Amino acid sequence: MSKSNAMLAPQAPADVSLTRDDMSFIAKLVYEQAGIVIREHKEAMTRGRLARRVKALGLGSVSEYCAYLKTPQAADEIPELINAVTTNHTSFFRERHHFDHLRKDVLPKLVQERSARRGRIRIWCSASSSGEEPYSIAAVSRDVLGARSDIDFRILATDIDTDILAKAETALYPVDQFERLPSDIKPLLKIEAHGRGEARISDDLRRMIAFKRLNLIERWPMTGPFDVIFCRNVFIYFDTQTKASILDRFVALLSPGGFLYLGHSESLPQPHPQLRLIGRTIYERLP
Ligand SMILES: C[S@@+](CC[C@H](N)C(=O)[O-])C[C@H]1O[C@@H](n2cnc3c(N)ncnc32)[C@H](O)[C@@H]1O
Repeated sequence: MSKSNAMLAPQAPADVSLTRDDMSFIAKLVYEQAGIVIREHKEAMTRGRLARRVKALGLGSVSEYCAYLKTPQAADEIPELINAVTTNHTSFFRERHHFDHLRKDVLPKLVQERSARRGRIRIWCSASSSGEEPYSIAAVSRDVLGARSDIDFRILATDIDTDILAKAETALYPVDQFERLPSDIKPLLKIEAHGRGEARISDDLRRMIAFKRLNLIERWPMTGPFDVIFCRNVFIYFDTQTKASILDRFVALLSPGGFLYLGHSESLPQPHPQLRLIGRTIYERLP
């Protein structure tokens, strides 16, 4: 059933209880499709998130939803399931020390080195959620780059969740999200009033970013190299094996001397021979 048909379907109150079998089925499917480990204590949260899909499809229960997911017609539903179960919490300049490091220690050197040969600078934000992280990267990058046009500068922002990527691309946020920001960084986002309590990130910053859907556990189409990779607050959802495999692929795409930023509660699954910890959750790729 399409989402729009579901909107027209008569809605009986759905049974959103989650049996042990349904929970293991969903957990297995989500792990296979996205690498996300749903732990048992997340059952209530999972139930709430699945309830959204049960309702959207006009189904009567989570068990019916699981039965539907087992049919061949359900292929289109898998991305919707993944969108429903992802946690997208983020904010502008979250874990600010990474943006300070990028602005003061990384970009000035890269700009000096690359401008001499009209080179490129590439940054990958690999779990970009609703866009606050890549727009914060664009803001500090514009601050360092100024108006210079002798460098080919791009940010690739990717996420598995298509709904959240669509939101990111609008670049529209409630104004109170900006009001909470420290006064030294707020102007860097160059926001423009939009009405209805919202503001939009300037076109100048938006043009620096390409948003794309990318599942970190699938094949990546990019060949790199990247000077900087942000992978923050997504490793927490993965198991050691998934993290180790993604990490190897990050290292292969990072330029020697490039930087990887992880989230505040994340660390490498095991020490990596080509990565050196140089600051709080900041790793440098060795030559
Ligand atoms: C908690 S948010 C973190 C956002 C941002 N990086 C930050 O630190 O503020 C985690 C993001 O990871 C994304 N995600 C989860 N599994 C993924 C996967 N297999 N591939 C790509 N993105 C994934 C989710 O959709 C979500 O937007």
